[in-house]
Amino acid sequence: MSVHINAEKGAIAPIVLFPGDPLRAKFIAETFLEDVTQYNTVRNMFGYTGTYQGVAISVQGSGMGIPSAMIYAEELYQSYDVDTIIRIGSAGAMKESVKVRDIVFGQGATTDSAILTNIFDQQVHYSAIADFTVLDTAYHIAQTMLPKENIHVGNVLSSDRFYNEEMDKMKLARYGVLAVEMEAAGLYAVAAKHQRRALAMCTISDHIITGEETTAQEREQTFTQMMEIALQTAVK
Ligand code: ADE
Repeated sequence: MSVHINAEKGAIAPIVLFPGDPLRAKFIAETFLEDVTQYNTVRNMFGYTGTYQGVAISVQGSGMGIPSAMIYAEELYQSYDVDTIIRIGSAGAMKESVKVRDIVFGQGATTDSAILTNIFDQQVHYSAIADFTVLDTAYHIAQTMLPKENIHVGNVLSSDRFYNEEMDKMKLARYGVLAVEMEAAGLYAVAAKHQRRALAMCTISDHIITGEETTAQEREQTFTQMMEIALQTAVK
């Protein structure tokens, strides 16, 4: 058991899908996995283990924001020997070329979070990056499911604040940042600390430039597609 996860050792699979919303974790477990057991109830941040195509897979809610995601990632890698965490989330598009319902893979994660600079005594701006092999696998699987123009790989912004009028997101977009979410940089830093693997993939739920938003039904559909990419990646 760890501080925020009340699972027995061995109850969590080496590969964990990591949605922000614990109810999403419940939905994924009930919809896609077989032989499911719930291993975590602490703070209602649900975690489940089951099988997909015969392979053991866990799904754990991360909560919102870098501090919450880092707590769960740290305990999964440290206390449960997890090898790979795949974040499945939503993001706001920051470039015209990225459309709502597209999928963005966070090859790197830029952040305004002080946590990452504090890890390095405020001396450096650490480049938080995805594991290349997991990214490569997921990207190729995505290409078999979606048109190429709907798949993007690059820099995401892991913002500390959902509501942030002060940040110059247009400038970040000019520097190539594709979309804004709130967890990837923290997840990547914890994975690097433990020399394990992580990837963040997000469906675009809203557009910072055009103001376009997805309906609940569209979010459900694109989320299901992303789930299939994540599950196929997990069993590869
Ligand atoms: N997740 C989805 N949309 C977002 C946005 N606009 N900002 C931060 N995180 C998000």
